[in-house]
Amino acid sequence: MLKGKVIVVGVCGGIAAYKAADLVSKLKKLNAEVHVIMTRSAAEFISPLTFQSLSQNYVITDMFQEPRTWEIEHISLAQKADLFVIAPATANMIGKVANGIGDDMLSTTVMATKSPVVFAPAMNCNMYENPIVQQNIKYLESLSYHFVEPGYGRLACGDMGRGKLAKVDDIVERVIEIIGYPKDLKDLKVLVSAGPTRESLDPVRFITNYSSGKMGYAIARAAKYRGADVVLVTGPTALEPIAGVDTIKVNSAIEMYEAVMEHSGDASVVIKSAAVSDYRPAAVHEHKIKKRDDFNIPLVKNPDILLELSKKAENQVRVGFSMETRDLEKYAREKVLKKNLDLIVANNLLQQGAGFGVDTNIVKMINRQGDIESFPMMAKDELAHIILDRVREIYKEKHQAHL
Ligand SMILES: Cc1cc2nc3c(=O)[nH]c(=O)nc-3n(C[C@H](O)[C@H](O)[C@H](O)COP(=O)(O)O)c2cc1C
Repeated sequence: MLKGKVIVVGVCGGIAAYKAADLVSKLKKLNAEVHVIMTRSAAEFISPLTFQSLSQNYVITDMFQEPRTWEIEHISLAQKADLFVIAPATANMIGKVANGIGDDMLSTTVMATKSPVVFAPAMNCNMYENPIVQQNIKYLESLSYHFVEPGYGRLACGDMGRGKLAKVDDIVERVIEIIGYPKDLKDLKVLVSAGPTRESLDPVRFITNYSSGKMGYAIARAAKYRGADVVLVTGPTALEPIAGVDTIKVNSAIEMYEAVMEHSGDASVVIKSAAVSDYRPAAVHEHKIKKRDDFNIPLVKNPDILLELSKKAENQVRVGFSMETRDLEKYAREKVLKKNLDLIVANNLLQQGAGFGVDTNIVKMINRQGDIESFPMMAKDELAHIILDRVREIYKEKHQAHL
């Protein structure tokens, strides 16, 4: 995702400095070229050698150390960086950047760069709440500097409050969001549905399916990376929420239907990857059903969300999913027409590496014209981008738009 990108990680003097080692390691794993600048205080907490080994690049701590090349280091790094991420960012460093002070290698290089700068503050909660720190953050945000908000919890000093360095994964996520992908879905509102539904029988039991929500979440995340305004309507899953995605949690098919209908009116694209139960128990018992010898569950049909959607906005791009155990192509072709879709993504549940729960999928895509494309097994994250590529092409055709 970050191949060919140059990222400068600035490490400041706080207890959380050790967590920056994990950040550098994760950025390297995503194939970024990483350079680390440490403040002198940071080097009191963790050795530059750690970052040198992880980044596989020389670590700079002193602006006036013997130059290694003819280049003026702070200017050359400032120029070649695609992004700066300062983690942990001390109150001191935030204050210096906000006030135009460049008295060390990190603050000077940040001042000299035109690349995006992301601050991940970490400090004692009283320091973080200090109005001067808050004012500095607001001022920097108004100048388009990015911030990853610190978390709430028990801090190293023993206080409880906001000030913990944000999760490293959230910092990485923000980096990817900013420089990982071209913003080719900017200005589009994309509604994605994901996960299973739960159809209650009584207060303790429900009917559901094996959907993990991974495919829908991958699409929502990818669309967000590409600049779309994303709404995710999700059934119950064990997945982490996606920062920056407007997430609506539902349980039953009826709730999903209502949420999708409410939020899809102004959506340019609707991608329905949720595994919605076709039926629900005709009645939900108020009390736990007791064991008995004969027991039937009368079922009634749930609303067909895709079909209902197709009666709405014509210009919307609509993508459905089809999960079958046989006659995949036949059913998918029927569904694309019956539900008036632009594209259907079909997978065979019985194929190893496809379908529910796993991180990969093997699919065929069929468009309205009946053209079929078959794909080999691939990560759901990768597939999400291919689906969005097709969506973008269809949207452009429908709207004669330049995206
Ligand atoms: C043990 C210890 C822990 C510290 N932790 C933090 C911290 O988490 N956040 C912070 O803003 N400052 C912290 N400080 C204060 C900074 O180290 C101090 O403001 C320093 O001047 C920051 O320098 P720098 O911004 O150049 O890295 C800590 C200081 C000590 C001695």
